[in-house]
Amino acid sequence: MKDTFYVTTPIYYVNDVPHIGHAYTTIACDALARWHRMKGQKVFFLTGTDEHGEKVHKSAAAQGIAPKELADRVVTRFQGLSPALTISNDGFIRTSEPRHYAAVQAIFRKSLANGDIYLGEYEGWYCTPCESYWTELQLVDGACPDCGRPAEKRKEPSYFFRLSKYQDALLDHYAKNPKFIRPESRRNEVIAFVEQGLNDLSVSRTSLSWGIPVPDAEGHVVYVWYDALTNYLTGLGYPEATEELAAFWPADLHMVGKDILRFHAVYWPAFLLSGGIEPPRCVFAHGWWTVEGQKMSKSLGNVVDPYDMAARYGPDAFRFFLLREVPFGKDGDFSNKALVDRINSDLANNLGNLLNRSLNMLGKYCDSVVPSPSAPAPSDDALRGAAVEVVPAADAAMEDVEFHKVLAAILSVSDAANRYLDANAPWSMAKDPASRDRLGTVLYNALEAARVSVLLLSPFIPTAAQRMWEALDCPGRVEQAVLSEAGRWGGLRIGATLPRSVIAFPRIEEP
Ligand code: MSP
Repeated sequence: MKDTFYVTTPIYYVNDVPHIGHAYTTIACDALARWHRMKGQKVFFLTGTDEHGEKVHKSAAAQGIAPKELADRVVTRFQGLSPALTISNDGFIRTSEPRHYAAVQAIFRKSLANGDIYLGEYEGWYCTPCESYWTELQLVDGACPDCGRPAEKRKEPSYFFRLSKYQDALLDHYAKNPKFIRPESRRNEVIAFVEQGLNDLSVSRTSLSWGIPVPDAEGHVVYVWYDALTNYLTGLGYPEATEELAAFWPADLHMVGKDILRFHAVYWPAFLLSGGIEPPRCVFAHGWWTVEGQKMSKSLGNVVDPYDMAARYGPDAFRFFLLREVPFGKDGDFSNKALVDRINSDLANNLGNLLNRSLNMLGKYCDSVVPSPSAPAPSDDALRGAAVEVVPAADAAMEDVEFHKVLAAILSVSDAANRYLDANAPWSMAKDPASRDRLGTVLYNALEAARVSVLLLSPFIPTAAQRMWEALDCPGRVEQAVLSEAGRWGGLRIGATLPRSVIAFPRIEEP
């Protein structure tokens, strides 16, 4: 196993406040980061904001403020997601920071020096009021798709990146690194796109001033995607030869939405190859959420606000729902009802119930003291087997970034433990003094299965997991537990006094 893990979210545009889509990517990366820390790896988890470019410029202009002022205002909404959703990012990068200017200019200079960036002319359909270029295809009846006013053909000097030169190198990279683009279906799309041939890419603008100046080229600012992608290096200290850069580059995983895969899987590795820097190990594209069957949009008024969700259901419920409900990589549909049903069935009725009924019986029959288990019966072995096997199975599914499978596997253990309790019926054993030993063993095993489930679920539901971890008298913070040790059967402390119940997931009752 590698001893480091570097995972990134896309950096989010500050022209608007966060919605479920942003929260989704960030939560997915957080679960991965926490999982890898639990495996004992040194993790760097980076997120941040994309503050330059046309979108932000326009949005600020519409509000009559400078782009930086808008960025300063909106960035707090993205930074605030970390405490609100229990996100454990190690870094937060803003592209308006001086350290990022240094990184972008350094890599740009490398490609200028080796001839991969050259001065040419950019031609497109320009909307003057919107200060935007459009392609012929994007125009609506010859007019700007944003404001409907006529667009005019315009040329401006621009620096170009020789993307065409990298077609073979990219195809070769995809072939040699079959896990570079995931999931598989997306990989095929990207390969087909690159096989069609690549045009050189405009990487500077003179029509815009809100951006990073091109080195030694007055009037040019760096095109926003070139600027934005470089954040993944800036976050580790590039262009300085920092310890973080040495330890964590190449990134293990850039998590992105399917709409921005091409930028990450085609442009970014080409920029890096040109700069003599190793490409990341993997770009994973996830699907999109609709809301009650409809595309999410401001005009429909159906935008899901992650702060609202956290306030209403708690961050754990929101996190769990997003990663459990939909096979990761596929599109999904959000509704409050689906969230409530999922939380009630998987968390309240399954794991929450297991823990509470076990604690309750421990109180009633064993004075709340964890008994010492005696020789196992076959049903004990079966439960123990299920709990022991789930650790490597969940780890393998996590490697494949299949959160839904990880969660289903973990919950199958608490489900098995509930059935184990039903089958062994400790309440009947309690009536027979000859069964005392057996009663203690059954409760011990049920609680131990709960302990393993809680540990494995902690990257997904950190707050509730900590509460349950403490209720089981397990030491320290659950996130500091190491999977290979804490995941071993038999970790429950014999003789510990446990509470009679723990409120981790009350059933959500909504009209
Ligand atoms: N700034 C660029 C990314 C630069 S990365 C070097 C950007 N920003 S964004 O704020 O518009 O989008 C960020 C992410 O949100 C993208 O990964 C996008 O796929 C994701 N989502 C936007 N709407 C979404 C849904 N409805 N559902 C799921 N994810 C969605 O693009």
